[in-house]
Amino acid sequence: MAAVTTEKHGSVLVATANNPPVNALSADVRVGLDAAIKEAAADPEVTAVVIACAGRTFFAGADITEFGKPPVEPWLPELVDRIERSEKPVVAAIHGTALGGGLEVALGCHYRIAVPSAKLGTPEVKLGLLPGAGGTQRLPRLANVELALKLVTSGNPIGAKEGQAAGLIDRLASEDGLLDEAIAFAREVADSRPLPRARDKTASAEPGQFDAFRQANARAFRNQHAPENNIKAVEAAVSLPFDEGMAKERELFMQLMFGTQSAALRHIFFAERKAAKIDGIDDDITLRPINRVGIIGAGTMGGGIAMNFLTAGIPVTIVEMQAEALERGTGTIRKNYEATAAKGRMSAEQVAGAMGALSPTLDFDKLAECDLIIEAVYESMEVKKEVFTRLDKIAKPGAILASNTSYLDINEIAAVTSRPQDVLGMHFFSPANVMKLLEIVRGDKTADDVLATAMALAKTIKKVAVVAGVAYGFIGNRMLMPRQVEAMKLLMEGATPEQVDRVHTEFGMPMGPFQMSDLAGVDIGWHRDPARIENVRDALCSAGRWGQKTGKGFYDYDEKRRPTASAEVQSIIDEFSARSGSVKREVTDEEILERTVYPMINEGALILAEGKAQRASDIDVVWIYGYGFPPYKGGPMFWADQEGLGKIAAGLEKHGFEVAPLLREKADANGRFNK
Ligand code: 3HC
Repeated sequence: MAAVTTEKHGSVLVATANNPPVNALSADVRVGLDAAIKEAAADPEVTAVVIACAGRTFFAGADITEFGKPPVEPWLPELVDRIERSEKPVVAAIHGTALGGGLEVALGCHYRIAVPSAKLGTPEVKLGLLPGAGGTQRLPRLANVELALKLVTSGNPIGAKEGQAAGLIDRLASEDGLLDEAIAFAREVADSRPLPRARDKTASAEPGQFDAFRQANARAFRNQHAPENNIKAVEAAVSLPFDEGMAKERELFMQLMFGTQSAALRHIFFAERKAAKIDGIDDDITLRPINRVGIIGAGTMGGGIAMNFLTAGIPVTIVEMQAEALERGTGTIRKNYEATAAKGRMSAEQVAGAMGALSPTLDFDKLAECDLIIEAVYESMEVKKEVFTRLDKIAKPGAILASNTSYLDINEIAAVTSRPQDVLGMHFFSPANVMKLLEIVRGDKTADDVLATAMALAKTIKKVAVVAGVAYGFIGNRMLMPRQVEAMKLLMEGATPEQVDRVHTEFGMPMGPFQMSDLAGVDIGWHRDPARIENVRDALCSAGRWGQKTGKGFYDYDEKRRPTASAEVQSIIDEFSARSGSVKREVTDEEILERTVYPMINEGALILAEGKAQRASDIDVVWIYGYGFPPYKGGPMFWADQEGLGKIAAGLEKHGFEVAPLLREKADANGRFNK
C-alpha cells in the first residue's frame, strides 16, 4: 500500500498517511504528502485539504533511522513550507501523538483539529536535537515563547486541550469522529481568506525572559548542547524575520546533528527498544497471564516494587511477618502516593484506586492466588532459600517465582524448588517506584515464556528491562564493584573523597562513588563488629558514620542533607594510608577517571564475552537507567567506543589492570563494542 493515499470527499481532498507502526515521516511519506498538496493545487474541484494518519497515531516525527544517511528530497522543512504556502487551506487531523516533525507538519497546516486524547510534543531534545522543520519558529508564533521553551527543552508533550488553550489547536473533535469533523471543518474554512499562516505572525518575549529561563534550568541543562541550541532557536524566532529564523534553526540543528551528544542519545533510543528483544525467543510466544502479583517483604524495596504494579492497575498481595512492619510498609506506600497527589501528578481517585488494589496480609498462604510472586527479603542466600522452599509448596502451578536479589545466584535459589523453570530474578533499583531500570535475570533453567512474560510485564509497569545472565551483581552492580574498589585505593594514595566524586559529577554522573556509598549506606555488607577495624570502611562504620541516614559517612551532612568534607574521615584515611605504607602524592583528575571508569568498561567486556549481557547496548541501557550515567554520553560501552578502545586498553595497562580479552581483541582490530 502507498505510504500516502488521497481520496476526494466532495471538494475536500483527504490525504491519509499509512506508515506503521508510528507514521514516521520517511522519504516515501514526504513524497506522498508533497504529491497530495500538488494534486490539490492542480484540481479545480478541490477547495481544501485534510492531512490525516491511519493506524494508532498522527506522525510521531521524522524517521530517526534516516538520520546520518544521505538526505532524500523533499526535506521535511521544505515540505512543511510547501504545505504552509498552499493556496488552498490545509487542515491537520490529529490523533495519538503528534511529535517532533509530526507536530511541525501540523504547525505548517493552516488549521489543526485534534481529539482530546491527542498529545503534542517536540521530543527532539531527548535525541540531542531541536525541532528542525520550523518548530522552533512556529511554536512561539502560534502559542508563545514560554510554552515554546517548555516544549522544546523538556521534550515532554502536552495534551490537546492545553494545546487548544495556547493557540496550537483550533478545534477539538470527538474521540471517534475525527475524520468526519476534520472534513466538515475543511469545508467551513474553504473560502476563508487570508489563510492563517504561522510565518505571518510575530513572537515576542519579555525583557530578560531567555536568560531567566537559562538560569532557572542551569542545573538540568548542565553539560548538554541541545537545550541551549533549542533556546537560541526560539530566541531567533523573536529577534529575526521568519526566513532568517528558519536559517538560524537549520544552522543550530546541523551543529547538533553532527555532534557526539546526539549520536549518543539516538544510540540510547534504539538501545532501549532493542533491550526488550530476547535473542532466540519469538516475539509471538504465548505469555502467562499476570492478574495478581504477590510481594514478600513490605520494606523499602518491597513497598516500592508494589507501587509499580498498583499504579498500573494490577492487584498486589503484600506479605510481612510482623503486623507492625506490615503497617509501616503500607503506610509508606500511602504516604508516597499522597505526596504524588499533592504535586498534582495523581488524582484522589487514582490514589484510592491504587490503595484499594493492595491487600496487605500476614498470611503467607495468601500468595497462592498470585500469578507472579516477587521476594524482596533480606539479602542472604540462606533466607532466600527458605522463602523459595516455602513458596514452592504453596504457589499455584505455573506461577512465576522471582527474586529481587541484587547479587545472588538465581540458579542456586531455583534449585531449592521443584520448578526451576518458573524462577527468575527481577532486580529493581532503589527507589523501586522511581528508577526505570529492571534487570531480569535468566537462570539456566528459566523457561522462555517465563522470561518473555517478565519482559512484557516490565513494559506494562513502564520499566526499561534488560536481560542479564547469572553472575555476581548481574550487569550493573558487577561493573560497579571494580569502580568502588579503585576509588578506595585512590584515597590511600592521596585523592580525597571530594576529588573523586567531583571527577564523576563533572563527567556527568549524578553523584560520585562516595556520595553513592553515603546514600546507599556505608554499612551495607559490614560485619557489624565495632571492635574489628581492618579498613577505612570498618573505621567509618564503627564511628557511626553509616552514611546519610546517620547524618555522617564519607561526608558530614547538615539537617538539609547537604554534604561537607569531614576532618574525621580525612584522619581515618590518613591513618590507613600510613599503615599500608602508601606514600601520599598528588593524584590527577585524569588518573581518577582512568582508574575508576576504564575498569568498568573492562568488566563490561568480560560480561559481554561471557554472554551475561545480550549486547553492548544493553549494558549502556543498564547504566543510563539504573545509575544515572549521562545519556548524552550514550552509556559506558558507547562512550568507550567514542573514546577509542585502543586508548581505554592502553590506559588500563598503564595502571596495571589486566585487559579483558574481548577489549584487547577489539582494540587491536580498531573495533567497537556497539555495532
Ligand atoms: N522514527 C523511526 N522509528 C521510530 C520512530 C521514529 N521517529 N518512533 C518510533 N519508531 C519505531 C521504534 O523504534 C519501534 O521500532 P521497533 O518496533 O522496531 O522496536 C516502533 O517504532 C514502535 O515504537 P515504540 O516501541 O517506542 O512504541 P510506543 O507505542 O511505546 O511509543 C512513540 C510510540 C511515543 C511514538 C515513541 O516511539 C516515540 O517517542 N518515538 C520517538 C518520537 C520522536 O522522537 N520524534 C522526533 C523525531 S526527530 C524529528 O522529528 C526531527 C525533526 O524535527 C526534523
